[in-house]
Parts: sequence; structure tokens; C-alpha cells
Amino acid sequence: MKTLFVIISILISEVLFTDNNGPVVQDSYEAVVEKCMANNVFAEDNKACLVCHGKSSYEFTDPITGVTRKRRMNARYILDIDEYYQSNHWSFACTDCHSDNFKTFPPRSSEKLEKHYACTDCHARDENYDQYHFKDIEVEYLESTHANVEGFSCWKCHNPHSYKITARNTENLKETILYDNNICLECHASFDNFQLLSDREEINIVQSHEWLTNQAAHFKNIRCIECHTAVNDKILVAHKVLPKEQAVKRCTECHSSDSRLVATLYKSQSKKSGRDLGFTDAVILNQSYIIGANRIISLNILSFIIFGGVLLVILFHTAIRIIKRKS
Ligand code: HEC
Ligand code: HEC
Ligand code: HEC
Ligand code: HEC
Ligand code: HEC
Ligand code: HEC
Ligand code: HEC
Repeated sequence: MKTLFVIISILISEVLFTDNNGPVVQDSYEAVVEKCMANNVFAEDNKACLVCHGKSSYEFTDPITGVTRKRRMNARYILDIDEYYQSNHWSFACTDCHSDNFKTFPPRSSEKLEKHYACTDCHARDENYDQYHFKDIEVEYLESTHANVEGFSCWKCHNPHSYKITARNTENLKETILYDNNICLECHASFDNFQLLSDREEINIVQSHEWLTNQAAHFKNIRCIECHTAVNDKILVAHKVLPKEQAVKRCTECHSSDSRLVATLYKSQSKKSGRDLGFTDAVILNQSYIIGANRIISLNILSFIIFGGVLLVILFHTAIRIIKRKS
């Protein structure tokens, strides 16, 4: 199943690197990581955890024999140090969210059952984050299909050690689509991860979407959430993942002049550019051409003129014939 994930990721990323729309002028990835590491006052403390959790093997001293042993670290417990320092929570100490007791090895079983903070514990009360509407998102999440799954939480999609906001400030829509879709594919293209939460049989998403013409092109140009969530004008990223029966299947939901994409994928852009352009939405024209989603006003007027002209000619012709017959 990992291979499926890789194939889909490659399919999606193929466009990312060939299609160079929207040049992004920003610091290089390495520069950002370096800056965050330098500014994180806990970076040294974190190293004490990352000597083990930042790579695929760790060493420890057997307390009884005093012998140093080397072991392979379970992949689940390895985190990417660079991603960590690029994420939203880059400035944290590991022990801000985890028990201090992890400083001693091996971790006791009681630590392993530690409770984690919820996003809203920190964000809902702080008005600096009002723009994100954490409370509204939580309400949506609680009504989503995943909320019934035992062990699911916001953290399952928002990896505590790597998540960073993307859709909100995107300059490159394709990159955001890839980022957001990979969040879903973390489980829906990896049966290993899926199995941790469900007894259901493996879902092959390539097969379940066979009805979708040109699936690869669609997965590169739209996000899973475009079809799987209810539109919500209050928040930037809709969170109510609906049961599969309610997913969008009709082509015209997107391929039409009032495409739902204006209210979902293109939301942040269409807000910026204003929506007074009629349906000749600036974003749709700039970034992608969606069949059926464009209404070019001048062409509309032209077609009215032609139609009107033809009608006049027919009327004129009929009138002449009637007059001729009478006489
Ligand atoms: C000597 C290596 C080592 C160090 C240092 C270390 N850990 Fe771990 N940690 C491990 C190993 C190995 C496991 C997996 C234990 C297992 O498989 O049951 C683990 C498990 C964990 C878990 C997962 C517990 C669970 O099962 O859910 C957390 C969280 C954790 N460590 C956090 C930390 C933090 C925070 C620090 C720094 C304060 C830290 N660790 C330092 C080796 C280490
Ligand atoms: C913003 C809070 C936060 C910070 C900071 C944080 N963690 Fe975590 N960590 C979590 C949460 C929440 C989970 C449980 C994730 C889940 O339920 O999927 C977790 C899980 C883990 C796990 C177990 C992974 C698993 O799948 O069970 C390890 C190991 C770990 N963290 C290590 C670290 C280390 C090392 C650092 C510092 C470099 C760190 N964490 C910093 C919140 C945090
Ligand atoms: C322990 C408290 C805490 C928890 C739990 C927490 N956050 Fe944060 N979060 C913060 C702090 C503090 C910052 C600012 C970090 C910085 O820039 O130094 C932040 C930053 C962010 C940002 C970036 C805000 C910006 O304007 O740059 C987002 C988005 C975010 N968090 C989302 C989440 C989500 C989603 C969750 C749950 C999955 C979560 N947070 C859990 C404390 C927390
Ligand atoms: C099924 C997966 C999933 C779950 C569960 C989930 N989210 Fe999200 N969330 C996303 C995706 C995808 C994005 C878009 C990320 C991006 O590109 O910035 C997002 C974005 C966000 C943002 C940023 C929105 C913005 O305006 O920029 C916040 C805040 C957030 N989620 C909070 C939460 C909270 C709180 C929960 C739990 C109550 C939660 N999420 C659960 C998938 C999920
Ligand atoms: C164009 C709309 C669309 C897009 C994009 C889309 N889906 Fe779907 N998806 C559907 C529809 C419709 C169904 C229900 C298909 C059926 O059973 O007839 C579905 C079914 C599913 C199912 C349930 C399958 C089953 O057999 O139980 C999952 C899981 C799923 N999608 C995940 C995803 C993921 C992950 C992505 C992104 C990589 C995605 N979808 C993208 C429309 C879409
Ligand atoms: C942490 C793993 C995980 C992530 C991440 C995840 N899902 Fe799921 N999803 C599941 C599991 C597990 C189920 C099956 C629940 C059950 O047992 O019925 C499921 C079920 C579904 C279903 C089918 C619901 C039904 O009616 O049968 C859809 C659709 C779906 N997910 C879409 C998404 C989308 C879209 C995303 C990304 C925004 C996403 N998932 C992210 C684990 C995940
Ligand atoms: C959730 C919105 C959405 C739905 C539903 C949808 N499409 Fe698309 N479709 C798009 C987007 C976005 C593009 C990419 C436009 C671009 O090339 O930039 C696209 C592209 C296409 C293309 C051109 C593919 C190519 O090779 O470039 C065809 C053909 C197409 N769609 C047909 C369909 C059909 C048939 C259906 C119904 C079975 C459908 N679409 C459903 C959004 C959607």
C-alpha cells in the first residue's frame, strides 16, 4: 500500500515541478529551518529527545549491565527535524506537549497513556487566532465521518510535528493541493496507517474513483475535500467530511458557470481578487481552465447579437412572405 501512496504522490507532484505558475519569492527551506532553530530557545533541550527520535536508530545504556546497546527506532516514533522547525509549532519544546518523564529512558507505560492537549485548549481562547475560527472548525469536525472513529482527533490530520498552514497563504495552488491531499493519503493510501484506526477492509481509492474521468488529472487539480466536505462560507477550509454517499459525483458541480470551486479551492484567491468579475473569475482564468466554468461576458453579448440578428432576419423573411401571399 505504501507503493500506492508513492505512485499517487508522484502523479500529483509531477505537475508541481513541471508547472511553474506563481513564482514564490521567499526564503529557502534551509534558511527558514536554520532561522527557527536559532530562535527556538529550547533547541538544545530538544536535541536530548531528537538524538533518539530524529533518526532510525538509538542507543541506550542497559541500567543493569552498564553495556551500551543499539536498537532500531520504530518508524512511527521518528520525526523529521527539518519539518519540525518549519511547522507552525516550531518554537515549542517537546516537553511543552509531552511529559517531562520522557527525559528518562525507557518510558514507563503510564507515560505512554499521556493525554494530549486539543487544539482548542490553546487556540480557542486566544483572540489572535480568531481569524482561523477554531470553534467553528471543531463543530464541523465533530459532525464529520471521522469523528465517530475511536482514536481519531484533529492531530491525525494535523501532524503535531510537521503541520503548517498552506491554503491560507498559498502562492502556488498546485503545491497546496498536493499538501492537502497527502494529508488524506497518509491513511487512504497506506493500509498500515488505516488499520490502526479501523477494522474495515482495505479501501482502494484508485478503484473507488474509477468513475472519475481522467482521475490523475483531477487529483492534481482538486483536493479530496472539494468533493468530500460540505461547503461552508464561514471558514476557509471546510472540515465536515461527509459519508461517501454524499460526496460530489456530478461533473457539473464544478464544470458549470457557478462552479463550487469558487467557494472551496479558489476561496482565498477569489476573496483577494473580488468576485465582481461575473463568472469570468480571475482565478479560474489565470490558474486553470475548467471546461464549462467560464462565462466570458463579451462573448455572451456577441452571441446575443448574432441570435437577435438571426431572429430579425427570420421575422423579416416571414413578414415578407405573409405580405406577398396576401397580395
Ligand atoms: C534513549 C533514546 C530516547 C530518548 C533520549 C527519548 N526517547 Fe522517547 N522513546 C524512545 C523509544 C525507543 C520509544 C518507543 C518505546 C516503545 O517502543 O515502547 C519512545 C517513545 C516515546 C513516545 C511515544 C510513547 C507512546 O507509546 O505513545 C513519546 C511521546 C516520546 N518517546 C517522547 C520523548 C521525549 C519528549 C523525549 C525527550 C524529553 C524522549 N522521548 C527521549 C527512545 C527515546
Ligand atoms: C504541539 C504539541 C507537540 C509538540 C511540540 C511535540 N509533540 Fe510529539 N506528539 C504530540 C501529540 C498530540 C502526539 C500524538 C499524535 C497522535 O495522536 O496522532 C505526539 C506524538 C509523539 C510521538 C509518538 C508518535 C506516535 O505515533 O505515537 C513521539 C515519539 C513524539 N510525539 C515525540 C516528540 C518529540 C521528540 C518532540 C520534540 C522535538 C515532540 N514530540 C514535540 C504533540 C506534540
Ligand atoms: C499547547 C498549546 C497549543 C496546542 C495544543 C496547539 N497549538 Fe497551534 N499554536 C500554539 C502557539 C503558541 C502558536 C504560535 C507558535 C509560534 O509562532 O511561536 C501556534 C501556532 C499555530 C498556527 C499558526 C498560526 C499563525 O498565525 O502563524 C496554527 C495554524 C495552529 N497553531 C494550529 C493548530 C492546530 C490545528 C492544533 C491542533 C491540531 C494546534 N494548533 C494545537 C499553541 C498550540
Ligand atoms: C480529515 C482531516 C482533518 C481533520 C480531522 C482536521 N483537519 Fe484541520 N485541516 C485539514 C486540511 C486538509 C487543512 C488545510 C491545510 C492547509 O492547506 O493549510 C486544514 C486546515 C485547518 C486550519 C487552518 C485553516 C485556515 O483558515 O488557514 C485550522 C485552524 C484547522 N484545520 C483546525 C482543525 C481543528 C481544530 C481540528 C479538529 C477539531 C481539525 N482541524 C481537524 C484537515 C483536517
Ligand atoms: C471529484 C470528486 C472526488 C474527489 C476529488 C475525491 N473523491 Fe473520494 N469519492 C467521491 C465519490 C462520489 C465517492 C463515492 C463513490 C461511490 O461509492 O460511488 C468517493 C469515495 C471515497 C471513499 C470511500 C470509498 C469506499 O469504497 O468506501 C474514500 C475513502 C475517498 N473517496 C477518499 C478520497 C480521497 C482520499 C481523495 C483525494 C485523494 C478523494 N476521495 C477525492 C468523490 C471524490
Ligand atoms: C489518520 C487516518 C485518516 C486520515 C488522515 C483521513 N482518513 Fe478518512 N477515514 C479513515 C478511517 C479509519 C476511515 C474508516 C472509518 C470506518 O471505520 O468507518 C475513513 C473513512 C473515510 C471516508 C468514508 C466514509 C464512509 O462513508 O464510509 C471518506 C470519504 C474519507 N475517510 C475521506 C477522507 C478525507 C477527504 C481525508 C482528508 C481530508 C481523510 N479521509 C483523512 C482514516 C483517515
Ligand atoms: C470537484 C470539481 C470537479 C468535478 C466534480 C469534476 N471535475 Fe473535471 N476538472 C476539474 C478541474 C479543477 C479540472 C482541471 C482544470 C485544469 O486543467 O486546470 C478538471 C479537468 C477535467 C478534464 C480535462 C482533463 C485534462 O486532461 O486536462 C475533463 C475531461 C474533465 N475534467 C471531465 C470531468 C467529468 C466527466 C467529470 C464527472 C465524472 C468531472 N470532470 C468532475 C474539476 C472537477
